[in-house]
Amino acid sequence: MPVITTIEDLRRIYERRVPRMFYDYTESGSWTEQTFRENTSDFDKIRLRQRVAVDMSGRTTKGQMIGEDVTMPVALAPVGLTGMQHADGEMKAARAAEKFGVPFTLSTMSINSIEDVAGFTAKPFWFQLYTMRDEDYVSRLIERARAAKCSALVITLDLQILGQRHKDIKNGLSAPPKLTARTLANLATKWGWGIEMMTAKRRHFGNIVGHVHGVSDTSQLGAWTAEQFDPTLDWGKVAKLKEQWGGKVILKGILDAEDAKMAAKVGADAIVVSNHGGRQLDGALSSIRMLPSILDAVGDQVEVHLDSGIRSGQDVLKALAMGADGTFIGRAFIYGLGAMGQLGVTTALEVIQKELDTTMALCGETDVCNLGRHNLLVPQDFEGRWQA
Ligand code: GLV
Repeated sequence: MPVITTIEDLRRIYERRVPRMFYDYTESGSWTEQTFRENTSDFDKIRLRQRVAVDMSGRTTKGQMIGEDVTMPVALAPVGLTGMQHADGEMKAARAAEKFGVPFTLSTMSINSIEDVAGFTAKPFWFQLYTMRDEDYVSRLIERARAAKCSALVITLDLQILGQRHKDIKNGLSAPPKLTARTLANLATKWGWGIEMMTAKRRHFGNIVGHVHGVSDTSQLGAWTAEQFDPTLDWGKVAKLKEQWGGKVILKGILDAEDAKMAAKVGADAIVVSNHGGRQLDGALSSIRMLPSILDAVGDQVEVHLDSGIRSGQDVLKALAMGADGTFIGRAFIYGLGAMGQLGVTTALEVIQKELDTTMALCGETDVCNLGRHNLLVPQDFEGRWQA
């Protein structure tokens, strides 16, 4: 068993273990991948302020996200096709999150269904909703999430159409993989993944297959989004979805102060400052750069979370110290899941918590809730001077 000390260690094992098309799906941004790259490189530009001779005993990373107690303010983000990274991937990631004490968010485009995850966990999880042209189907999804006792609906706003990730097209990404000569050659080297996948509960999109009718191809994310996702989603529809759900709502994919104000106006409980991990609008600025302007606009009205670019506990600390109330990780837990299943997700969370805790201590803080700009050294031009 290799010694794991970083998220990068998990990524390397993941790359070896999982079929290329699913690795590429995770490790891609859209078009030139500029935004994907800058999401991480912009975190590196922020430095930490070392403080000494502070009593560091009794430290805690505990906090709250939308009123729920969390072991650290790091939720697992919704990631499509998670059950293709590892057999029963969503069930296992959800269980790892539950045991660790952080929220798990199930994607609409998951392999395990809402009911699979509910049956495998005891605490409520969050459900991420993509809105579809078929309103009956969306209503049924919402009812299924309610029946599963999900404690928040996470509505994604930045994916009415899919950003182009070149590799997915070239790889013919589908769930399950279509057995072309190229795919078979690659699968032949991934037998550990394959053996487990043979006994997996599902190998298709579990929230879709068997729940929709008259759809030409439910195996390809690209075809499905082009055919089914609702291009007319607007703030009026968001308000209606919120009303239909009646519970806590998190609006994900906000990258602009004006949109953040609209999200606050419809009464969101939280927003996620996000560019979808650089997978949608290439050329957008990183989430961490956009965070300060969004906090200025709505920080006193709504909880502000952040995703896109977080690969370490230091990144979590930087986001929190910049003013975010919580964070989400996507790739960082998928690396762990693909590498080692449930144990890998737990390992990813442990690595991040340890990095967060140690960094906090060396910055002279004992409580994650007290982090602030005073812990950071931020370059004067960090947000940049951009003209609309
Ligand atoms: C879907 O959410 C994707 O980014 O592929």
